[in-house]
Amino acid sequence: NGIVSAGPHQALDVLMEGLRRLEYRGYDSAGVAVVANGGIAMAKKSGKLVNLITELAANPLPDSMTGIGHTRWATHGGPTDKNAHPHVVDGGKLAVIHNGIIENYAPLKADLLKQGYTFVSETDTEVAAVLLGDIYRSLADVATPAANGSGEGGRLTEAMQLAAQRLEGAFTLLATHAEQPGVVVAARRNSPLVVGLGDGENFLGSDVSGFIDYTRRAVELGQDQVVTIAANTVDITDFYGAPAQGKEYLVDWDAAAAEKDGYPSFMEKEINEQPEAVAATLLGRSDIDGKLILDEMRIDADVLKTINKIIVLACGTSAYAGQVAKYAIEHWCRIPTEVELSHEFRYRDPIVDDKTLIVSLSQSGETMDTLMAVRYAREQGAKTIAICNTNGSTIPRESDAVLYTHAGPEIAVASTKAFLAQITAAYLLGLYLAQLRGNLFQGQIKDILADLGKMPAKIATILDNSEQIKELARSMADTRSVLFLGRHVGYPVAMEGALKLKELAYIHAEGFAAGELKHGPIALIEEGQPVIVVVPSPRGRDSLHSKVVSNIQEVRARGAMTIVIAEEGDESVREYAEHVFYIPETTPLLAPLLTTVPLQLFACALATAKGFDVDQPRNLAKSVTVE
Ligand code: G6P
Repeated sequence: NGIVSAGPHQALDVLMEGLRRLEYRGYDSAGVAVVANGGIAMAKKSGKLVNLITELAANPLPDSMTGIGHTRWATHGGPTDKNAHPHVVDGGKLAVIHNGIIENYAPLKADLLKQGYTFVSETDTEVAAVLLGDIYRSLADVATPAANGSGEGGRLTEAMQLAAQRLEGAFTLLATHAEQPGVVVAARRNSPLVVGLGDGENFLGSDVSGFIDYTRRAVELGQDQVVTIAANTVDITDFYGAPAQGKEYLVDWDAAAAEKDGYPSFMEKEINEQPEAVAATLLGRSDIDGKLILDEMRIDADVLKTINKIIVLACGTSAYAGQVAKYAIEHWCRIPTEVELSHEFRYRDPIVDDKTLIVSLSQSGETMDTLMAVRYAREQGAKTIAICNTNGSTIPRESDAVLYTHAGPEIAVASTKAFLAQITAAYLLGLYLAQLRGNLFQGQIKDILADLGKMPAKIATILDNSEQIKELARSMADTRSVLFLGRHVGYPVAMEGALKLKELAYIHAEGFAAGELKHGPIALIEEGQPVIVVVPSPRGRDSLHSKVVSNIQEVRARGAMTIVIAEEGDESVREYAEHVFYIPETTPLLAPLLTTVPLQLFACALATAKGFDVDQPRNLAKSVTVE
């Protein structure tokens, strides 16, 4: 985060508020630096933001209108005080923060060491800071702030441009110099950075939550740009100093939307917001006849008709939404659909051409693995659609089309409402393609949309009756391992249920295709092993229901403690289950919007019972902008 203000806000207040809101991006350490009294005043602490708050209470920083602040998710160098950002160099005059990974930091560091520079941390960031300081000093004799065409930024801007030219990898760098108070300069390549436009003050943030308390006017930056903010100006250039433009937009949510609103955690709030998240994602996307209208679909209908393969790319929870998408898209559109983890995709020489449609799923729109995979696919000629929850983020910007999920800001690190919104958007995309290609009759699409329209109320029913599953979760706080089973769309739901439990409660958990059990994992079953089974609707096709019921019997016969998620009215599971949780009826393909919810509630309640911070689980970050 960065801030320059002509008033009324003090930099430190703005920075600390911004860091509080951005902490979900990383919480291994936090730090702030402000320009004051001809120098830089800095405080930084390892651990969560609260440690920095305590430090600042004991040792306050002086008043200032210019500053930068950072929360870190450690890459190079452990989460220590020393490795925390900002890094202050140039005789205590230049403060720098960084997100991303500078890939050529080793040769740069060797060079700088040869020149006599010393380093106090193990971070690539310090190398960038020292390099920037070195360039800044070298400009001292040749350039004056007025002469180099960089407006308010002067020397610091020019130094940043020159430094950025020499850095490889992914980075957002922010710098402020004591000799140029009233200016913060930033450079970005492949790593997120947004400008906030205030009144007599301007802001920089990894995302808009960094300044949402002060303004909703934001500017998207392009790749490889340098931006200089002062109290009343924002100047954007490329790395070579040529003027560049950003794209201004209005953030469609406000600070209140990013508060807990009386819930004990963001996670609980977000789980409870799922009816609205699904409803908002459906809103305005079809007309009264059930015809889908996707305004943001900027790919020609003719092109979409020629597509012969879809590859869904995503990571983490989003990848499980992608698996659900595969079932729906193949069933409705008859287009072969693969799902692949973004970080595996481009390294295996995949078969991609101009008849391939790439569908990326990313809540943040910034996940580096997914961004790189999308770029790679575009280079191979594929068309790309992003399903994304963050307006103005990089992946949708670099895709041919975007379908925004309207889940609202998701703050808890582990994803919940964005997952359901992604699945909803994937259904819409599948139906849209089916409509376009004539795979479904308009009447069929209308019926499915009507079913989808009923989902928010059904999710709300599950939430209203959540006490039973929470109670069970609390009683299982000592559990060491939980297995999750599902088939068809229940399989990705099982994997997502397991992931939630790993992320939130640090319990070993695995999701298996129930049919695969007998081919190996059944060896894990011993007396008392909890197994959660997502049972498909008995009204579904292909006797899948009875097969899953058989799978329950198989584990039960070997001593498993079975917990079953089944459709209302399905009495057949009762005799094989220690615990049954019923969800409202729906069509088999849409069931994930319901079956996921009890699993989220289970993981959240269990982790809470263990005393863990469900919003910020250890070692994780919400938006992973490194590969
Ligand atoms: C991180 C988060 C996960 C998330 C994944 C993908 O690892 O901790 O919760 O599912 O990134 O994020 P994306 O923003 O691309 O959906």
